[in-house]
Amino acid sequence: MDVLVHALKAAGEPTRLRILVVLERNELTVGELCRVLGQSQPRVSRHLKLLVDAGLLERHAEGASAFFRPCLDGPARRLYETVLDLVEADELVLRTDRARLEAVRAERAEVAASYFESLAPDWDRIRAAHVADETVERALLDAVGPGPIDTLLDIGTGTGRILEILAPRCRRGLGIDRSREMLHLARTRLDSLGLEHCAVRHGDIYQLDIPSGTMDVAVLHHVLHFLDRPGDAVREVARTLRPGGRLLVVDFARHEVERLRTEYAHHRLGFADGEVMAFCSDAGLELEPVAHFAPAPPEHARRDGEAVERLTVTLWGARKNAIAPPVVHDLEAAS
Ligand SMILES: C[S@@+](CC[C@H](N)C(=O)[O-])C[C@H]1O[C@@H](n2cnc3c(N)ncnc32)[C@H](O)[C@@H]1O
Repeated sequence: MDVLVHALKAAGEPTRLRILVVLERNELTVGELCRVLGQSQPRVSRHLKLLVDAGLLERHAEGASAFFRPCLDGPARRLYETVLDLVEADELVLRTDRARLEAVRAERAEVAASYFESLAPDWDRIRAAHVADETVERALLDAVGPGPIDTLLDIGTGTGRILEILAPRCRRGLGIDRSREMLHLARTRLDSLGLEHCAVRHGDIYQLDIPSGTMDVAVLHHVLHFLDRPGDAVREVARTLRPGGRLLVVDFARHEVERLRTEYAHHRLGFADGEVMAFCSDAGLELEPVAHFAPAPPEHARRDGEAVERLTVTLWGARKNAIAPPVVHDLEAAS
């Protein structure tokens, strides 16, 4: 009763109601919420605190920023869902909020895209400075197994390096990326290696133009930390997997190297195992054993003679439940 009254009081105010609607499927910082709502930071912060205290939202601090998102469980969750059902989505104020939200998200995407495009030619070199690539790539190959697998999907393929290393294990490989510059580099790589059974195409991880249940293995290699809705991305990738198909995610373990956000457009400072586990279980996937790769010794962690922070890389594997009947593969039709 107390929890319900507390949550009802928190939700029962126009700005806070708007915040609940705006955050329905989003994770935003206070600054972004101020822009969407057109209100000052102290005001928005006060509203957010009340919503967090009432168990409707959760606050998740990452370095200098704090992100707010809905609590996905807990006693106030049903009230949140009920409020969303009752709200008239077409109200003018909510339509305005939605339009501003789209602008904020487009701006984020723009920052990330221009970063990638300016960086594309150097990408492989920069990645090598941060992680022990060979170790992780070997683990990725072990996780895929001797194969051959039928269809491989590499999302956020970048320069196509993951397609290159997994190409001998698959009958067909498809790389997807949102940056045309990256796709150009990946195409050049595949061409020069003669990997004709692998192709790349333009696409967005949130809305893949790939039929459901058609992929055997999907890989997200250093992609998730650039995304503002990693859970939605995992759900969309899981949709493309056939029953029994596997998702392999390689990314940084949770860290506090804030400059990766400012200098390299990382949206998330790595992930805790529990977070990835939650993304997977929400997407109907079962997490497999997790492998952590400790940072390289300090003498190897240098870039152009300058020391760089040491980051742990994690490989998470997950499998889609093999309960549905097998699906006929038609990758050519998809590409
Ligand atoms: C750090 S690079 C990793 C490239 C590659 N997976 C690798 O490890 O070599 C991240 C890639 O994700 C792509 N990317 C970012 N957001 C994306 C999105 N929403 N949909 C598809 N690709 C995206 C970027 O364009 C970039 O090529």
